[in-house]
Amino acid sequence: MNFYPLEKLHRLYDGYIKPFKVAGRDLLLVQDSGSAYLISNRCPHMDAPLTHASLRGGLLRCPMHGIEFDLHSGGARGGPAACLPSLEKFPIVYEGNQLGVML
Ligand code: FES
Repeated sequence: MNFYPLEKLHRLYDGYIKPFKVAGRDLLLVQDSGSAYLISNRCPHMDAPLTHASLRGGLLRCPMHGIEFDLHSGGARGGPAACLPSLEKFPIVYEGNQLGVML
């Protein structure tokens, strides 16, 4: 496994959302309420990219059909959506003044 740096810590802010292509994977780095999350940039519903998703109160809302996912648990919120697979999350690795991922 290798460390892939993604972003300097001082560049993160609540509402930050940025896609990365790393080792053949499409990833999305987001920050909400002071917490950073690294997830697959694919919606578990129908694989739409989440680059233009909206963030609110710990929820990531997919722009394609509006399903909301809890960033902390990864699970979909609301009615039938609750049976969808969770967001694919990756552990964030902190190294010096930046964060990244081991892949
Ligand atoms: S593809 Fe994301 S909600 Fe349908």
